[in-house]
Amino acid sequence: MVRETQLTSNHLIQPLFLVGGTQVKEEISSLPGNYRMSLDNILKEVEECMSLGINSFILFPAIPEIHKDKTGTHSYSSENFYLKVALAIKVRFPECCLISDVALDPYSIDGHDGIVRGGKIINDETLEVLGKMAVAQAGAGFDLIGPSDMMDGRVRHIRQSLDQAGYTNTGIMSYTAKYASAFYGPFRDALDSAPKESADIPKDKKTYQMDPANKKEALLEATLDTEEGADFLMVKPALHYLDVIASLKQNFDLPIAAYHVSGECAMLIAACQNGWLDYEKAMPEALLSLHRAGADAIITYFAKDFASLQIGHK
Ligand code: PBG
Repeated sequence: MVRETQLTSNHLIQPLFLVGGTQVKEEISSLPGNYRMSLDNILKEVEECMSLGINSFILFPAIPEIHKDKTGTHSYSSENFYLKVALAIKVRFPECCLISDVALDPYSIDGHDGIVRGGKIINDETLEVLGKMAVAQAGAGFDLIGPSDMMDGRVRHIRQSLDQAGYTNTGIMSYTAKYASAFYGPFRDALDSAPKESADIPKDKKTYQMDPANKKEALLEATLDTEEGADFLMVKPALHYLDVIASLKQNFDLPIAAYHVSGECAMLIAACQNGWLDYEKAMPEALLSLHRAGADAIITYFAKDFASLQIGHK
């Protein structure tokens, strides 16, 4: 009766990794229980999740090397299977909420979220690509566009591009405070999207992702994203950044999203596989703490498992 925080499946967003082809279901070794799947298996997965009460999905593509280039042109090509898969999901399940990923890294031969030239990330030229990518995704039926790239000014540029193309009803879930974190490892394994090792390519993402030591900067980023037209403010990673989630929740009226990232989930899975923690207890407690800190929407690789546990406990 007096419980202050109620976490339900409605708050959760399930990430899905897509690959081309048919009948593909490859487990991601550093994130057990998660798979790269082709369209046929993705449709089954979405159906299962929806029957458990998970209606929101964030989609990430594993792009073959042959389609990668310096400026990520495949991202907005009509041949990009990512767009075709989104369309197929929306046709079959119009009531689901699909969130996209906007960033160059899956499509970049350099493995960066922006265009690389002379050892640097070229911010403003990257915006042009991000705008085209967002418009192509809105056309494919995505409900929310998810810029994960951390270029400056991209929320405004994407909003203007969407509006000009007539997609005034497509929202933006902005990765507002995305930190240059060591917890993205399994995700980069899943998509083979880590920065390439070469003398003229920045070796990490520290020139555009945030310094984990900074909290005030998250408020500055949130002010900018709000002014630029974001519909959600996201903090990423989540469990190690509960103070940042709480601070954004206190200071802004937009819905707050938290991305419980691959490395954070992998830690818990590994401890449970070793018999050191009890998955059915530790996993829901981790998710509850994100909601208690102030996250309205939670992206987590545990969404489906949380929903089936809830049903089991009723
Ligand atoms: C890249 C992107 C990353 C994640 C989501 N989008 C990795 C990165 O910034 O290198 C990480 C998500 C996770 O670890 O679960 N645009």
